[in-house]
Amino acid sequence: MNGGKGMHCMKRDYDVVVVQRRVIAPQHVELIVESPDLASAQPGQFAHVLTPGMLRRPISFSRIDRAHGQVGLIVQSVGIGTEWLCNRQAGDRLNVLGPLGRGFSPPEAGQPWALVGGGVGIPPLYAALQAWQNTVHVPQVVVILGARAAAYLIMADDFGRLGVEVRTATDDGSAGQHGTVLSAVTEWMGVHREGQMMACGPTAMLQAVYQVTANWSGRTQLALEQRMGCGIGACLACVVATRSPGTHGSQYQRVCTEGPVFDREELVFS
Ligand SMILES: Cc1cc2nc3c(=O)[nH]c(=O)nc-3n(C[C@H](O)[C@H](O)[C@H](O)COP(=O)(O)OP(=O)(O)OC[C@H]3O[C@@H](n4cnc5c(N)ncnc54)[C@H](O)[C@@H]3O)c2cc1C
Ligand code: FES
Repeated sequence: MNGGKGMHCMKRDYDVVVVQRRVIAPQHVELIVESPDLASAQPGQFAHVLTPGMLRRPISFSRIDRAHGQVGLIVQSVGIGTEWLCNRQAGDRLNVLGPLGRGFSPPEAGQPWALVGGGVGIPPLYAALQAWQNTVHVPQVVVILGARAAAYLIMADDFGRLGVEVRTATDDGSAGQHGTVLSAVTEWMGVHREGQMMACGPTAMLQAVYQVTANWSGRTQLALEQRMGCGIGACLACVVATRSPGTHGSQYQRVCTEGPVFDREELVFS
């Protein structure tokens, strides 16, 4: 931990050590870091990771292991900051602010549960399943994962090892259903008129989930991947339009602070 210097609006930054690094797909690396403080995170919260000479980069927790005081960060190299992160090795140190934001609420007991993920939106869903699979009694769990091609379908085997049903879809048809996650989502909602859905992925996927769940009576929580600046509520770079349930007026909320997880009813997606 970085002592008093680490205070940012009551959030702390920590110097943490990378204890393991593995390449899990082309341009995708998972870093396991040791930090009992970060391991207090809720699924869906994120780490704001310092990349030299740049703004911090938000990365979700892919695993939260309280017993061993470790968390996982899966990083896809898409630019200069994530490329630097993907090049970290075991033994390297990172400066991480977190855990930040509002994570997922646990699924309600007794209701079927669907986890819908695309790309680097998949990792926080794994953390959610790890946290609640054995602590909340849900009668049925399905994980629906999408990616552009089979090689980018991350964590499907990890979910499989937790013994849940995993359905996959790829844009090019190289694994699972040809196309997006949407048909599996619609099919599941057709069988389960009520239930819990948690979704995280690219904006286009979330907008589609938002639309198809419009008349569904279950609860849908969406975790947004908005571009961020400060990560702690100060710069307003990350705001999205929201509304209070039951009202027509809209207001802006900060994805880094009031989110990244929102209930479907709170969001105003055009
Ligand atoms: C709450 C949250 C959780 C996230 N979790 C993860 C995660 O677990 N793993 C992971 O790899 N990434 C995650 N991201 C996205 C990640 O933060 C961005 O990819 C990263 O900040 C890009 O930095 P860069 O310097 O590599 O790219 P830049 O050089 O800044 O940009 C490269 C390209 O990526 C695009 N881009 C940058 N940021 C985003 C963004 N937030 N959403 C969509 N496109 C973006 C840019 O438009 C540009 O085309 C998360 C984002 C948020 C907000
Ligand atoms: S990133 Fe600065 S307010 Fe959200």
